[in-house]
Amino acid sequence: MCTCKSDVYDVVGIGFGPSNLSLAIALGEHQGNRAGHPVKAAFFERQQSFGWHRNMLLPETTMQISFMKDLVTFRNPRSRFSFVNYLHESGRLTQFCNNQDFFPTRQEFHRYLEWVGSSFDDQVSYDSEVLGVTLAPEPCECAQRYLKLEISNGAIGATEIVNARNISISTGLVPKVPDNVATGDRIWHSSQFLEKLRDVDPADLRNVAVVGGGQSAAEIARYLHATLPEAQIYAIVPSYGYSVADDTPFANQVFDPEAVDDYYFGSDETRDAFWRYHRNTNYSVVDDDIIRDLHRASYAEQVTGERRLHFLNLTRVRAVTRNGATNRVSLHSLIDRETRELDIDALVLATGYTEMTPTGLIGDVDHFCHRDPEGRYRIERDYRLMTDPEFPCGIYLQGGTEHTHGLTSSLLSNVAVRGGEIADSVITRTRADAPTMQRSTRRIEQAWERAG
Ligand code: FDA
Ligand code: NAP
Repeated sequence: MCTCKSDVYDVVGIGFGPSNLSLAIALGEHQGNRAGHPVKAAFFERQQSFGWHRNMLLPETTMQISFMKDLVTFRNPRSRFSFVNYLHESGRLTQFCNNQDFFPTRQEFHRYLEWVGSSFDDQVSYDSEVLGVTLAPEPCECAQRYLKLEISNGAIGATEIVNARNISISTGLVPKVPDNVATGDRIWHSSQFLEKLRDVDPADLRNVAVVGGGQSAAEIARYLHATLPEAQIYAIVPSYGYSVADDTPFANQVFDPEAVDDYYFGSDETRDAFWRYHRNTNYSVVDDDIIRDLHRASYAEQVTGERRLHFLNLTRVRAVTRNGATNRVSLHSLIDRETRELDIDALVLATGYTEMTPTGLIGDVDHFCHRDPEGRYRIERDYRLMTDPEFPCGIYLQGGTEHTHGLTSSLLSNVAVRGGEIADSVITRTRADAPTMQRSTRRIEQAWERAG
């Protein structure tokens, strides 16, 4: 028997956040429901243990999706990995219900994700960063070519090579900072926030600034104001004031699984309309309750006259320079078009993220991948990179597909369904004895038929 039968995984997941966690469940449940060879899957995660945006696990912050948009329910409401089953096993189902809130705290959702993750310990390697992916130079004895992943294992301080027929790249959002600004000792991106804050004596933080007009910025401004009672807090907001995230029922439809088909099979005009009308469901917007909390806190200070929460509206950070023990932030105001300087002890850049891109990881494999006239990857409906016909493997993306699959690309709303679609695709594409397609794959085909 050729060694590829034992040495090559059917699927290797890069990153073990919610996206690949959902895929791991879907693969397992697919196998549980069907006869055939089990799919051999492994996942590699660079963190030392499971963690979902740990540095933003601020107390009281809540999820921006309903608890029903967990890792499974929209694909398989009977799954044992539902949030409801997690509550049941944790003995909180009744009290969660009595709490009458669709949106769990981020801390509780993190515990749910950890709870699910612990069922996959036999498939996941933590402290394992995938450094790169190449195509095996030669076919194996049975003429198969597969991908080789180079993985740095932090625990043993060595690299290993793992072989895969398919990979699912789910490495998450990439922190973005303004031009002319670098993170450092007292300049942090929001994705570093809690761990950096813990390293500083609060007494050293007398003037702190938070940059941005999105959810991260507002949550951090509220948290700093509450936890540093002696500090001046400056919120540097690019708009005239925080704008609310539209999560009203009709607008929320842009996150429905069906919206992916409408976006994917729509015209450029369709896709443009999605962004033009609905960008404010997610980007540079803030949940209503936090806006109100911040305004209430600010108003209370106006009443007493003891002000320490300052909003610098229509203002952008242009640069940061070191000024002795402090950082000097150069701020440009669109109100009077003046540039001013502000000395601060710490600066938090809640300036957002860019989408994940596979380019750095896949190296020379990129030559097989197709791009559109704007240089963006072409991606099939099943989230598989379009490649030359002779390319023998599947590269699936969870993230980095906003231009093809729409607004849910880097969000949680659709992870359950997407994980199922990828699992179906991997199984139907790679198995000669492929089981009959599940509903979601059939739905993709029907959508293709509709699109002519
Ligand atoms: P995620 O970033 O969660 O996971 C990627 C994993 O890959 C990480 O664990 C990382 O360590 C690992 N990794 C990266 N490179 C690697 C490599 N080379 N080798 C091995 N491992 C590697 N969305 C939503 O719908 N509702 C919400 O409530 C929220 N809330 C929210 C809060 C905050 C603070 C942020 C910043 C974002 C959100 N989001 C969100 C959006 C967010 O993208 C989403 O919640 C998920 O994190 C997406 O899951 P992924 O698994 O795709 O990425
Ligand atoms: P974001 O929505 O992209 O917001 C980034 C903000 O930074 C924007 O207002 C941007 O303004 C501003 N900015 C960028 N450069 C700037 C500069 N030089 N000066 C001043 N402002 C600048 O990013 P985010 O708030 O981190 O949110 C990212 C994702 O995470 C979203 O999906 C969000 O919903 C999610 N999230 C969820 C939770 C939760 O679940 N509780 C918490 C935090 C985040 P411009 O757009 O004008 O550049």
